[in-house]
Amino acid sequence: MNSNKSDYPNEKFTAVKWNAGRLTLLDQRKLPGEIIYLNYDSATAVAAAIRDMVVRGAPAIGIAAAYAVVLAARLAWREASDSWCESIETDLSTLSAARPTAVNLHWAITEMRKVFNGIEGEPEAILLERAKQIHDEDIAANHEMGRLGAELIMPDSLVITHCNAGALATGGYGTALGVIRSAFNKGSIQKVFASETRPWFQGARLTSWELQQEHIPVNLVIDSAIASLMASQKIAWLIVGSDRIAANGDVANKIGTYSHAVSARYHGVKVMVVAPSSTIDMQIESGANIPIEYRNTEEVTDFNRTRIAPDNIEAVNPTFDITPAKLVDAIVTEKGIVQAPDTKKMLAMFG
Ligand code: MRU
Repeated sequence: MNSNKSDYPNEKFTAVKWNAGRLTLLDQRKLPGEIIYLNYDSATAVAAAIRDMVVRGAPAIGIAAAYAVVLAARLAWREASDSWCESIETDLSTLSAARPTAVNLHWAITEMRKVFNGIEGEPEAILLERAKQIHDEDIAANHEMGRLGAELIMPDSLVITHCNAGALATGGYGTALGVIRSAFNKGSIQKVFASETRPWFQGARLTSWELQQEHIPVNLVIDSAIASLMASQKIAWLIVGSDRIAANGDVANKIGTYSHAVSARYHGVKVMVVAPSSTIDMQIESGANIPIEYRNTEEVTDFNRTRIAPDNIEAVNPTFDITPAKLVDAIVTEKGIVQAPDTKKMLAMFG
């Protein structure tokens, strides 16, 4: 891996890109202050980038993993062409283990595996074609979800979003932010409230920045202001993305989504979850079985690498939570909308 500063004219939001035979990732840890792209030549380096949050957001992680499979196969082919398929298994396991909650990571690796059997000779070109297809399909899905979700939003609405589910978290355009962009273009969004999303501040650093670039009015609020905001303003929708949706419609998303959804139900605010079908995991019966990532507790005890909590205090740092299906009014996917989701409706659309 090496790094270079680049401005990528017209592609300010391209978080994941195949560039001259390498994977290029926008280093999201540096946004919005610096725009730095990092280049990757190996799957193990990409796995580390996923783990370290260079690239983040479920669909973007899945797309990065698909390109990482291409890198793994290229190196394995060069080392031993007759056994590349077996020798990349260690890389695939490392990639799979990089982050546990976002199912898109496992989905993308499974999709890439499906191509292995038909390959004769050098694998790179065929695998790259499939990875690019996964990337393009994600962008197309986001536009379709944007169109569908925007139809649910009445003119001049105030909406809340949490974490980042924009172009940076996806192949492009965004899931929750895709709906917000489409609805804004139709005149249906008056203003967006973005919650800051402790401890990584994806709402503050990424979402408010993306909305600002799009000239969509946005107010940044602290996570714990959401209930009082809902009590004092006429908020129409809470719109979020997801990292995995179980077969009964339970939704895993960034920590804080659940408490926002509880507040939303209490205050009569509707909850929309926007995610491509690659985020639906029909193998998992309910949210109780979705693996939740716990990250380093220094993310809680420290701020900007400075200790703010007392020494020896124990912290807990769950990265995602589960919003029960009964708190969700609509799951918007590129295949259609599931209103008031339950197992039967989910099976009818995704079974
Ligand atoms: O920990 P992150 O930054 O990868 O988490 C991102 C989120 O939780 C997003 O809200 C999620 O991936 C939604 S899908 C674009």
